[in-house]
Amino acid sequence: MIRLGGGNIFQCDADDNSRKPLLSMLDEISEPILVPFLKWAGGKRWLTANYTHLFPTQFNKYFEPFLGSGAAFFYLRPSEAILSDANAELVNVYDQIRANWKLVELALKRHSRNHDEIYYYEERGRKHRAKHEKAAQFLYLNRTCWNGLYRVNLKGKFNVPIGTKDAVLLDTDDFEEASCALQKATLSTNDFEPILSLAKKNDFAFVDPPYVTRHNFNGFAKYNDKIFSWTDQQRLAQAIRTAALKGVQILLTNADHPSVRKLYAGLGRQVTLKRHSVLAADSENRGEITEIAILINYGASPP
Ligand SMILES: C[S@@+](CC[C@H](N)C(=O)[O-])C[C@H]1O[C@@H](n2cnc3c(N)ncnc32)[C@H](O)[C@@H]1O
Repeated sequence: MIRLGGGNIFQCDADDNSRKPLLSMLDEISEPILVPFLKWAGGKRWLTANYTHLFPTQFNKYFEPFLGSGAAFFYLRPSEAILSDANAELVNVYDQIRANWKLVELALKRHSRNHDEIYYYEERGRKHRAKHEKAAQFLYLNRTCWNGLYRVNLKGKFNVPIGTKDAVLLDTDDFEEASCALQKATLSTNDFEPILSLAKKNDFAFVDPPYVTRHNFNGFAKYNDKIFSWTDQQRLAQAIRTAALKGVQILLTNADHPSVRKLYAGLGRQVTLKRHSVLAADSENRGEITEIAILINYGASPP
């Protein structure tokens, strides 16, 4: 099977699931073919669609310590990757898509056939043992819950109510291809710190933490049972400094806030990113909000 994605042409062999670049650097291809299978707060599809020039084209290993829906990973499709997130249920979805995508898809089709309001709440309360069932349940709830939100109660149980979207299977689904892209990735459930410490000179890290500012936890802060705090943000800045000194190339995204700009002052180059936001549509921003990208070890050439 030959697919286009992230500026490269890949061949994915269904038998050994390996992926081989046939041609590279096709600048005219800007649309990623692999669309993330999850909808995730703070997801970076808009970044990979509109700011492709911020992603380096050459590096050794790829690191993504705040994986979420993996928009950057699926856009870049690097040949060697370390993918990690603190949310174990989320990482299980990637693991099962990689190892058992057919079983996950089968279970998801079952959810699709049964989906209605009563079934949603029954399934939300169900505890599966098989990992592929857990993965399919996660996908099902992600697609049908309110706004794709992920929230758990104090006992760690997912408690988001049903949303307005009914589609359980999406036109963009290509679990076989996603499995193929994940074959050479190392997956881990972890805090960002030990993961970033593995990166070496000429590796590339895309770092997209929950956005918190000095005085304010915004709505993106709570992804799981632990809140990403300002102390975590400071801890991250320190881990980034250490990685930067080792020569790791880093693209960090964050809230466009003076406290964040100050925290990362003197580290690489700060670039203002603009994106459309429905939430900001009524404000004086006219639907546009800003975030920042911090480019570290990009050399002199402007991306
Ligand atoms: C902004 S989202 C990443 C979005 C992702 N780039 C995408 O395109 O969907 C941040 C992620 O960080 C994870 N996270 C929160 N605290 C963490 C920690 N201490 N270490 C690693 N991951 C963490 C959350 O589970 C969430 O998936």
